[in-house]
Amino acid sequence: MRRKIVAGNWKMNGDIDFANKFCADLRKRLSGSRMACDVMVAPPAPYLSIMSDAFSDADVTLVAQNVAEYAGGAYTGEVSAAMLKDFGCRAALIGHSERRTLFVESDERVVEKMSRLLEQGIAPILCVGESLEERESGNAKDVVGAQVDFVLSRFSAEQLSNLVIAYEPVWAIGTGKTASPEQAQEMHAHIRNVVAQADTNLSDGMSVLYGGSVNAATAKELFAQPDIDGGLVGGASLKVEDFYAICQSF
Ligand code: PGA
Repeated sequence: MRRKIVAGNWKMNGDIDFANKFCADLRKRLSGSRMACDVMVAPPAPYLSIMSDAFSDADVTLVAQNVAEYAGGAYTGEVSAAMLKDFGCRAALIGHSERRTLFVESDERVVEKMSRLLEQGIAPILCVGESLEERESGNAKDVVGAQVDFVLSRFSAEQLSNLVIAYEPVWAIGTGKTASPEQAQEMHAHIRNVVAQADTNLSDGMSVLYGGSVNAATAKELFAQPDIDGGLVGGASLKVEDFYAICQSF
C-alpha cells in the first residue's frame, strides 16, 4: 500500500500569529480524527522551530520548502539540511517550479539538494511539471519524464526509498486552473512508468502527489485516480478548514 499524503505548502505567506493559530486550530481538528493520509505542513523556514514544538504531540510532519545544496560553511542566507533536521523537519521540497524559474534551480542543483537531504535522513519531495507552452506543444510527458529521469540516474533505488514525487503542472499553480483528473492521472501513470524503468519495487511503493490549485472541491476526484496518492497544496492549505477537508478527501 502506497502512503497517502497531503502536504500544505505555505510559500512565503503567514506571520508568527498566523503560525501559532494554524497549529492550534489544526491540532484541534486532528485530535480524535482518524486520518486516511499523512498530514504534512511546509511553513516558511523561520516558523519551523515554533511549529515543531507546537506539533510535538500531533501527527503532523514538518516539511521544509527548500534546502541548501551545500552541507555548511560560508553560504550567506542558506539553511542546511542538518539545520532542518534540528528544527524537526522530516521532509523537504526540492525543485519546486517557483524555485526552478525564479531562483534558477537546475536539475544539477536539485540533485545536490537531494544528496544533502539524504545525508541527513530527510525525505525529499521532488517537484516536477511542465509549463503551458510545453503542454501546448505536446512535450509535457518528455519534459516531466526528463526531470524524473535526471534524478533517478544519480541515485540507487535504495537511496530513493523515501522519495516522494509531486507532479505540479506550472500552468495550474496558483492560477485556479486544476489539471483534470484524467490529465493528472495520465501524467502520474507516465511518472510511475519512468520510475518503473529504473526499479519496479520503487515505482510500486512511491507516492506521487498532484499539485496545482487543489482545493476542497477538486481533491476527492483527483485523489480517486489510481496513480494519485495525495496532493501538494498551496493556496488552499492556508485555511485550516479547507486544508483539513482536503486531508479528508480519500
Ligand atoms: P497552489 O500551489 O495550490 O496554490 O496552486 C501549489 C504549489 O505550488 O505547491
